[in-house]
Amino acid sequence: MELSDREYLERLFEAFYEVGALPGGGVTRLGYTELEDEMHRRFADLAGELGCRIEIDLAGNSYAFSEEAEEYVLIGSHLDSVIQGGRYDGVAGVMAGLLLLKRAKEAGLKLPLKAAAFRCEESSNFGCCTMGSGLVTGQLKEGPDRLSQLMGKDGVHLGDVFARRGLSLTPPRITGVKQYLELHIEQGKVLEETGARVGVVSTIAGPRRWKLQLKGLAEHSGATPMSMRQDALCAAAEIVLAVERIGQREAVRCESVATVGVIQNTPNALNVIPGAAELGIDLRGSDMDSLDRMEQDTLRTAREICARRRIDLLESKLSEMDPVRMDEGIQRGLAAAAERLSISCRNMPSGAGHDAMAFAPLFPTGMVFIPCKKGISHNPLESATLESILDGADVLWEYLRGMD
Ligand code: HGY
Ligand code: MN
Ligand code: MN
Repeated sequence: MELSDREYLERLFEAFYEVGALPGGGVTRLGYTELEDEMHRRFADLAGELGCRIEIDLAGNSYAFSEEAEEYVLIGSHLDSVIQGGRYDGVAGVMAGLLLLKRAKEAGLKLPLKAAAFRCEESSNFGCCTMGSGLVTGQLKEGPDRLSQLMGKDGVHLGDVFARRGLSLTPPRITGVKQYLELHIEQGKVLEETGARVGVVSTIAGPRRWKLQLKGLAEHSGATPMSMRQDALCAAAEIVLAVERIGQREAVRCESVATVGVIQNTPNALNVIPGAAELGIDLRGSDMDSLDRMEQDTLRTAREICARRRIDLLESKLSEMDPVRMDEGIQRGLAAAAERLSISCRNMPSGAGHDAMAFAPLFPTGMVFIPCKKGISHNPLESATLESILDGADVLWEYLRGMD
């Protein structure tokens, strides 16, 4: 019995959700791990059911398509997640890609399409985002030597992970992309609060990520006078709040944001003055001057705090990507498609990063957002409706038919 589009999406969702599912909802499927491998295996199986072929490139990205073509429209997103993340981030876009492949086969769309699942879009494992898409588009600013030294949460260097998998940190570049399109949950509150059913993305904020390693002196917490301490965690605490203040200042000027998402304390013992601490800092913005100000102020303030507290500071930049603008013609085309379908739509920026950032500098690129409940994402509570995924897929389908 033929499945309806909604039933087909439901089937896709269930097939993906089991992988890395956490008790009480949510998922953890870090990039370039067995759980992400399983997600790509399921993507291949589902594409095979459509009679599609699968290709895997040397960065480990998967592509499903009906027939080879010199030029094609690529519909992609990712299947990895953050630690204790949600079930829709990335997956919704890959589901939409498979649904559009199914529709294209049934409707005999002449326009060649490929659906892609990119590896390691999240920075959660190696501190570098859009790894799979960034490698095949050459958009990662970090070179192969620097990338191979990145260490995953399991303590294994990326270079070793790639060697074991027979992958390459210098894979052949992707070619033939007529347009790159991506459907993604908004991961913010604008669509839900304004009631628009879909969003058309205008710009994607660029991230800059830093690791700060602070080294003080572990000593007895009871016997060491307050005036004679080199407490790394207190220095880190001052830096965390300074980063928040810098983000709040820049948010007023140009919607930038700044977050300390990682803190490690060593030895993390009740009766030991913290001898070492490590911070992971995530700066985002669509304005390059604002990004520069946040980066310079963060480093300058961290150096001042550490000097005053006699703490050694080691700074290392984990990754950075420039903010990108979506193709103006695609933005107009997607909005027109939504209007033809009487699906309410609004043009909006993306604070979150996406694989589309890797494609936008090279190929005409566009994104469609769908709402997620209360805008919550990167959290087991993340949720979206299949109806919203259908809305976004309908807008993409209407847009593609206009290209055919
Ligand atoms: O971190 C991000 O912006 C996205 O979820 N990769
Ligand atoms: Mn994400
Ligand atoms: Mn995502």
